[in-house]
Amino acid sequence: MIARHKFLCALFFVLLFGSAHAESPLAQPEPHARPPRAAIASANSQATDAGIEILKAGGNAFDAAIAVSATLGLVEPESSGIGGGAFMLLHIAANDQQVFIDARERAPLAATRDMYLGADGEPLRERSINGALAAAIPGLPAGLVHLAKRYGKLPLAASLAPAIKLAREGWTFSSKNAAMLGFRREVLATNPAAAALFLANGQSPKPGDRLSNPDYAAMLQRLAENGEASFYEGKFAQSLVDGVRAGGGIWSMQDLASYRVVERPVLRIEHRGQQIITVPPPSSGGVALATMLNIMAGFDYVKLPRVARIHLLTESMRRAFRDRALYLGDPDFVEVPVALLASPEYAAGLRAGIHPTKATASAALPGIGDFSDRPSTSHFSIIDTDGNLMAMTQTVNLPFGNAFVVPGSGFLLNNEMDDFSAKPGTPNAYGLVGEDANAIAPGKRPLSSMTPSFVIGPDRIAAIGTPGGSRIITMVLLGILDLMDGGSAEHAAALPRLHHQYLPDVLSAEPAALDESEISELQAMGHTVSAGERSWGNMQVVVWDKQANTVEAGSDPRWKGVGKASTADDGVIFR
Ligand code: DON
Repeated sequence: MIARHKFLCALFFVLLFGSAHAESPLAQPEPHARPPRAAIASANSQATDAGIEILKAGGNAFDAAIAVSATLGLVEPESSGIGGGAFMLLHIAANDQQVFIDARERAPLAATRDMYLGADGEPLRERSINGALAAAIPGLPAGLVHLAKRYGKLPLAASLAPAIKLAREGWTFSSKNAAMLGFRREVLATNPAAAALFLANGQSPKPGDRLSNPDYAAMLQRLAENGEASFYEGKFAQSLVDGVRAGGGIWSMQDLASYRVVERPVLRIEHRGQQIITVPPPSSGGVALATMLNIMAGFDYVKLPRVARIHLLTESMRRAFRDRALYLGDPDFVEVPVALLASPEYAAGLRAGIHPTKATASAALPGIGDFSDRPSTSHFSIIDTDGNLMAMTQTVNLPFGNAFVVPGSGFLLNNEMDDFSAKPGTPNAYGLVGEDANAIAPGKRPLSSMTPSFVIGPDRIAAIGTPGGSRIITMVLLGILDLMDGGSAEHAAALPRLHHQYLPDVLSAEPAALDESEISELQAMGHTVSAGERSWGNMQVVVWDKQANTVEAGSDPRWKGVGKASTADDGVIFR
């Protein structure tokens, strides 16, 4: 009765005075249609600068993405490159469309389900991690060509020019390069072409040293002039196949010639009145995000005390990662029940099994029985002054990929084959387990955790992503929640991190993420907490606030001085 009375009063008020919105002195101004400036956040300042150069030359966010991507492949070889793959998420402002370009690597056609198992049936991890047999067929070269042709404003040659110049004239070795090299030095030293690139005279370069890579410049130049055929067919392809086979790999010319990028529909998640746009399989990230956010949507978690909220987040993570292990794989090969897994109804069922104050043991969930914090893989986020957005995550998998360079090529190959489940239930380098859905098959794409995403709210629009193996998904989840709470790009990138991935049944926490009393409370609930772990991730975020008409970029402070977030604050204004 009272509600009805209030409604009638409100109606009367509106009839008398017009819409409350129009009359209110607090009425929101119309959101701005275009960002006042462009912004780029990437894991290396040389890559950010390359992207800025292309924006200044009249390129859009997608042209800039090509420049950033090709430069990262040169200056951050431990993380990603031409010998690897990528997921690209585009927001095209002109028609308000989003596109997902899947440039993920594919298993060679001669790959077999048990190719990494020894005579005793156990995985021989060495083979899926180091050397030519670990390499899947690269997708990034085809991805860059596709991006330029379909979505760029500039010719590919223009967008690749900054990376070509840097490869010829020399790029600057960073403290991050040095840290990662220390980690893979021994394996790199076993491959003469890799050693020639990264261990000249048997020495690791020092931060600040300048290195050139004429082979890389020549390869990009050919890509610019002759498109993807220059990589996937003919003489260069033959040299790659010969080099890989000489190293014990199984690539064929047909593998390269038949590689195609795939455009797939994006995954959309509604949460607290905002839209999250993210990537579907062969990424596991989008589906897991949907599961976690949908579970959380049934709790009034914003109002809960911190520990209760962390408990519920952990339980959501645990359940999403169990489903990842059971159901997710390359959708071109296995039927992935995406609509079901991403539905609120399914999440409601999972939520019902969550106790408000007690951890569920992962072993108690029906189902199956560390490199994880090394930031190989690279993410960058870009917004241009037309409002186009790019979130792109690219990878060669583990630091320095498979540590194998085909002589004369100028780039490392990936070890993405390790992202398959070599044996059901046996963990890979990220401790991830999988089942049949992610078993190896010829031409199949290994399941990925890369989760480039957009958050589209009524006032603010953001692009976000990070490296970090299995932890990518939970980092992006926490980053999205922070952005939805109004966090700045820098705040979201800096946020202390927590992670649970079902197996091992452990809640991992960065040093600043939990205090002693929170750890005790979580332990009392039954959680196994591993606190004070080395930090992880390398998040790059851009945010456009349409109401305030501001653009900001945030680069993960964990690699301060290596990554770079650039906006007009640096004196770069594009119109
Ligand atoms: O696609 C994936 O899920 C992995 N290859 C990503 C690897 C990664 O993020 C490495 N960083 N720690």
